[in-house]
Amino acid sequence: MKRIGLLTSGGDAPGMNAAIRAVVRTAIYFGMEVVGIERGYKGLIDDLTVPMSMRSVSNIVHRGGTMLRTARCLEMFEREGQEKAVKTLAEHGIEGLVVIGGDGSFRGAKCLTETYGIPTIGIPGTIDNDLAYTDYTLGFDTAVNTCIEIINKLRDTMESHERISVVEVMGRHCGDIALYAGITSGAEIIIVPEIPYDMDDVIMRINRSRENGKHSNIIVVAEGVTSADAFAEKLQSVTEHSVRSTNIGHVQRGGSPSMADRMLAAQFGNKAVRLLKDGIGNRVVGIRKNEIIDMDIIEAVSMKKRFNYELYETLQMISM
Ligand code: F6P
Repeated sequence: MKRIGLLTSGGDAPGMNAAIRAVVRTAIYFGMEVVGIERGYKGLIDDLTVPMSMRSVSNIVHRGGTMLRTARCLEMFEREGQEKAVKTLAEHGIEGLVVIGGDGSFRGAKCLTETYGIPTIGIPGTIDNDLAYTDYTLGFDTAVNTCIEIINKLRDTMESHERISVVEVMGRHCGDIALYAGITSGAEIIIVPEIPYDMDDVIMRINRSRENGKHSNIIVVAEGVTSADAFAEKLQSVTEHSVRSTNIGHVQRGGSPSMADRMLAAQFGNKAVRLLKDGIGNRVVGIRKNEIIDMDIIEAVSMKKRFNYELYETLQMISM
């Protein structure tokens, strides 16, 4: 394979730039050319390409966001859009494609591979950590660290005022950001889509913690359940303690990637290009039990994410 395309798609995630760098540099190492496609599948359909060089990816390893920009593109789910995308690839002599993105982006990649026979490699880039086949997605670690930093600050003021803080985090239908941020920031309670909650139980846990000498509480709510505002209002109507709500919002999608995400980016990007170089397409790369893996893209997108109930129980045991 002599020329490959590269795009980032869906919500951006810290580490995408580091992955772009790894893809471009690995490809150049193996004597391949890389064509960058701007604005995700939208750019593929509208023919927005940019040549990538060794130097065009200098100074981005530490930057959040994506230098190729990104978009959510519904046209890619229709035949007309797909055919335009395939035409762009053919016109530029692009023989294989690397797609960095989440679940929706992988569905586009699966279609290019399955219907049009274009060798495509998916790199999991989303803060949500909602892809079943990989233990971690690119951006998740940084996003959770950002949430921890904000919760640390909230903890200071909540403690002074003896309040309950309800903090909303992202994750779409997945509770992993809430679970990991909750357990590592010392939250007493997390509310996630995977486990139905009961307000009486929430009140019981808060009251018990106060009887045990606590002066403030942190509750992390995943956006897939409800908003921090709605939850806080409901809670305030049944408790005498003062409740405040905070939505971390898009802040958790930005920022310089953590060591863990930069490492994943380097390994995922490198592996994706090695696969294409060997003529292997139709795969996604990931990490399982600390090992970089690849697997069939069709199988990967059909897998159901398993919630980590053991971690949830751990949180319940140590957050009294
Ligand atoms: O998929 C990443 C994500 O940040 C989700 O956690 C969130 O639900 C969504 O994207 C927000 O999308 P947008 O940036 O389009 O508002």
